[in-house]
Amino acid sequence: MNSKHRILTGITTSGTPHLGNYVGAIRPAIAASRDAGAESFYFLADYHALVKCDDPARVQRSTLEIAASWLACGLDPEKVYFYRQSDIPEIPELTWLLTCVTAKGLLNRAHAYKAANDANRASGEDADAGITAGLYMYPVLMAADILVFNAHKVPVGRDQIQHIEMARDIGQRFNHIYGGEYFTLPEAVIEDNVATLPGLDGRKMSKSYNNTIPLWLPEKELRKAILGIVTNSQMPGEPKNPDDSNIFAIYQAFASADETAAMRKAYADGMGWGDAKQKLFERINVELAPMRERYENLIAKPGEIEEALRVGAGKARALAQPFLARLRAAVGLRSLRDVPASAGDANARAEKPALQPVVFRENDAFAFKVLDAKKTVIATKGGFADPKAAMAAARDVMESMTSLHRET
Ligand code: TRP
Repeated sequence: MNSKHRILTGITTSGTPHLGNYVGAIRPAIAASRDAGAESFYFLADYHALVKCDDPARVQRSTLEIAASWLACGLDPEKVYFYRQSDIPEIPELTWLLTCVTAKGLLNRAHAYKAANDANRASGEDADAGITAGLYMYPVLMAADILVFNAHKVPVGRDQIQHIEMARDIGQRFNHIYGGEYFTLPEAVIEDNVATLPGLDGRKMSKSYNNTIPLWLPEKELRKAILGIVTNSQMPGEPKNPDDSNIFAIYQAFASADETAAMRKAYADGMGWGDAKQKLFERINVELAPMRERYENLIAKPGEIEEALRVGAGKARALAQPFLARLRAAVGLRSLRDVPASAGDANARAEKPALQPVVFRENDAFAFKVLDAKKTVIATKGGFADPKAAMAAARDVMESMTSLHRET
């Protein structure tokens, strides 16, 4: 296939971009796109937005704001693939092909779905009350986003790691079932220290906690928002622990190593919270001010952004269309004029080698591998507390690989 490294990431278009999006996704992704050895894919995950948001005006407004944000932050749409998910019909099409190889049990274990289940149970409701099939299927749609372009690396926040693992799982399973290297198995990329920013209240900055600092606040309002970040009640003059400070955590995400070291020292020397907040404001504002101006200019011309997305979709579909044609053929959605599926496919399946689980120790935990008869690792996962749990998970994987597609 392609020798260039493919980097892909998406932002759900259900809210206003905030500092956490910038630090955790936009900035590292744009930096990575400047690497000449890389081919980058950035997209507006508007189908994902529908899972969380049923306000059409908000979805549209958010799409505009997020598109303008990427462009203002330096994305060059000529050099990358920049598109809107819903402009690529191959994505929902692939979602269905993947849905049919995805173990339901895998989706039952998704964090977002499980959390919604647990919340329901805790309040005495039916476990699935108010949970849409969209929420349940979210990881499959996300797998399609990634696999349709055979991305190698996916820069995301920590909360998304499980989704990338699921995309790997699902891609691996499709490859195995249909006997080919159709999909590249993606890896999550987490920029350490900065991947998740604390919000105003100290919890992860997230629109679901309503604790965000919007990315494009005018200067005065940005300053005001920063003054509202919670701190402890230590007085000026008291030495403070930077590693226990939200202000410091955010500062670090913007500052150089030297600036961070100087701030650490200032904390030890008893810098007051008011000063720390002022320093934080200044540091963020220096970085954002030129981009803020570009953002204001862009957002005033939505037609130009629409056009950039239209061109981007054309480029992306030039890759996705032929790939989907190949995948459709692989699963048997074929023209009836083509030579009928023959013994060829059937024999290949009958000879499909037996799978073998192997459990091993990894760091302080246990892991499993599933090998095929050629000893190729077709699935692996770590982090199990004991060998029994690892073996059970290996059996799960083997079970879903074989029984999902038992000959009928
Ligand atoms: N689920 C991601 C989030 O909420 C957004 C997203 C959708 C995404 N599809 C993706 C991220 C594919 C990376 C790759 O942050």
